[in-house]
Amino acid sequence: MPTALITGASSGIGDEFARQLAARGHSLVLVARREDRLNELANALPTTTHVVGCDLASDAPDLFGRVEALGVEVDLLVNNAGFGLRGRFADLPVERQAEIVRVNCEAVVTLTGAFLPGMLERRSGGIITVASTAGMQPLPYEAVYGASKAFALNFTEALHAEVKGNGVRVLAVNPGPVPTEWQQVAGYDTAGGEMMPGAIEAGQVVREALASYDKGSRSMVPGRFFRNFMRVNAVTPKSVKLAVSERMYRPKR
Ligand SMILES: NC(=O)c1ccc[n+]([C@@H]2O[C@H](COP(=O)([O-])OP(=O)(O)OC[C@H]3O[C@@H](n4cnc5c(N)ncnc54)[C@H](OP(=O)(O)O)[C@@H]3O)[C@@H](O)[C@H]2O)c1
Repeated sequence: MPTALITGASSGIGDEFARQLAARGHSLVLVARREDRLNELANALPTTTHVVGCDLASDAPDLFGRVEALGVEVDLLVNNAGFGLRGRFADLPVERQAEIVRVNCEAVVTLTGAFLPGMLERRSGGIITVASTAGMQPLPYEAVYGASKAFALNFTEALHAEVKGNGVRVLAVNPGPVPTEWQQVAGYDTAGGEMMPGAIEAGQVVREALASYDKGSRSMVPGRFFRNFMRVNAVTPKSVKLAVSERMYRPKR
């Protein structure tokens, strides 16, 4: 039975990856800080599931050893954990912004570096990294988050090219807005209905992501609305994209 390790499985898209991969017959290793949530999820799943509490902002380098100690070989790594912060860069706490880079970029590099060599040796397995449409252009008022996802996207696409033909799949998943705890953590006024058009559910993100992984794709945008929107975005001049997104994302207060 193949084993998938999912970071950020205590909520949202990671929780869905766990449920859908369990339904496909994967054993699981669930990683996040909130172990209580992971244990609750593990108890609800029909498959062998290990829970590893880990703060990826500081302890990502320990994770490979902790998983090895469980006697588990990881066939699929899902780099999903991540967060963003909304607001003017100069107004946001710089330490918390640096934490975005540690979780969304540094931990992705650390875990990929730990698990990929074994996959290449076995000539099987793969890595799914959840980037974002936010990584497809500079994003005023989510400047660090957008840049962190540009890193995740470019790193993952480059790896896809490096490992092609070696039996290992590498996929970047780039969702547009998905209603999860992400918005609350980032500081959006979700109660005020500040959601964007084209939002899709986490279940659809994961279904489409796994279908793309099965096909061996390099990168994908789930949901037809955002897939088409990003095609137009890709050929729009950066000056126009920056002006439009600066207005769209400018905090109202
Ligand atoms: N929701 C969206 O609109 C959207 C759109 C595009 C991309 N994404 C990306 O999708 C991924 C999943 O986000 P989501 O929407 O499912 O958000 P979410 O519901 O807030 O889930 C985020 C997950 O990341 C984990 N996490 C955050 N900081 C962590 C840390 N320091 N150490 C370990 N785990 C940490 C959280 O677990 P703990 O708090 O328990 O540690 C949680 O399980 C993220 O990379 C996000 O940037 C989201």
